Amino acid sequence: MSYLMSNYAPLNVTFIKGSGCYLTDENNDQYLDALCGVAVTGLGHSHPKISKAIQLQAQQLLHTSNWYHIQHQETLAEELCNLAAMDKAFFCNSGAEANEAAIKIVRLHARANNIDEPAILTANQSFHGRTMATLSATGNPKVQAGFSPLVSEFIHVDFNNIEAIKQHESNNNIAAVMLEPIQGESGVIIPSDDYLNQVQEICENNNWLLILDEVQTGIGRTGKMFAHQYNNITPDVLTLAKGLGNGVPIGACLAKGNAAKLLTPGTHGSTFGGNPLVCRTASTVLEIINQEKILDNVNELSNYISLRFSQQLANVDKVKEIRVKGLMIAIELNQDCVQLLQQALDKKLLINITGQSIRLLPPLILTKDQADVMIDTICNLIKDL
Ligand SMILES: Cc1ncc(COP(=O)(O)O)c(C=O)c1O
Repeated sequence: MSYLMSNYAPLNVTFIKGSGCYLTDENNDQYLDALCGVAVTGLGHSHPKISKAIQLQAQQLLHTSNWYHIQHQETLAEELCNLAAMDKAFFCNSGAEANEAAIKIVRLHARANNIDEPAILTANQSFHGRTMATLSATGNPKVQAGFSPLVSEFIHVDFNNIEAIKQHESNNNIAAVMLEPIQGESGVIIPSDDYLNQVQEICENNNWLLILDEVQTGIGRTGKMFAHQYNNITPDVLTLAKGLGNGVPIGACLAKGNAAKLLTPGTHGSTFGGNPLVCRTASTVLEIINQEKILDNVNELSNYISLRFSQQLANVDKVKEIRVKGLMIAIELNQDCVQLLQQALDKKLLINITGQSIRLLPPLILTKDQADVMIDTICNLIKDL
């Protein structure tokens, strides 16, 4: 009997430690972690510099609340704003909270522009979180089922369809567009190269805020620090979490221009958000990405993995499509494949199954040898399906 609520259905394995790209279970068996706790531990488990930063900060100061100046928060805000060409940062504890902050910024933007019933365009098949506002934003009826009445007003349009957005230009209630640059949870859905550029242009023409949810795609996952940097654009609001803390819970909502000025004292907050421990850890994450040339590794490995998967799976009928951007990888099959989750676990490989797609989010520090193990295991599992 478990005292935990039943909202998760965990696999029957308990990990007790991790090192680099591997996790170790209670029986001392090692697993190659090609999921990273869902795009979180990009720099691997127990990275010595991160462990050291956490240890030093834990010995010094964990928490004071945002009623006092927090130097590590100031430093991290500056680092992130410089990296993303943004003006201001707000820190919280998760991706959903980062998106909540973004949605509240939109409401204030709407008020400032005399829009009384603001609406946000979001995409079908998107995922923005599990709080009431973010599940309402999420374009997946399964996530929303049972939770009505939803927060209004989110209007869902097809992803990667610019006409679907243009159709709403005459709606004076629209205040923002909120998108993932690549849809992660729905199986690594990559839009056409200029989609985000076109969306940004429409937003600019209509005084709509462009919110990019880079909770999953941010912090090097796609081979650039932020996925939208492939488009040479900057959104008005950018949300981050997951890889930013490499395992410590941190979320960030960055904003530029007018959008950066809307949160004023009393309008938003978080007790834990941006405490010294998580901010120092996140600064260390950014330092490592820079010092250890992590993005170069992501890009090199991405090309290698993409090539090897397409070679090995070229004549396999069961494979419908292979989608790769950086180290976001999906292999979509023509059939259900949920059993591969357990089969991969039996082969000591951690993966995810999303619909009919095998989804891989391996560590950004993966080596070629480790990539080979991942690729060979997956290809064999698919062929035996
Ligand atoms: C794009 C995106 N946004 C938001 C979230 C929610 O993040 P969290 O689970 O940290 O609240 C996720 C989580 O998977 C995500 O992928």
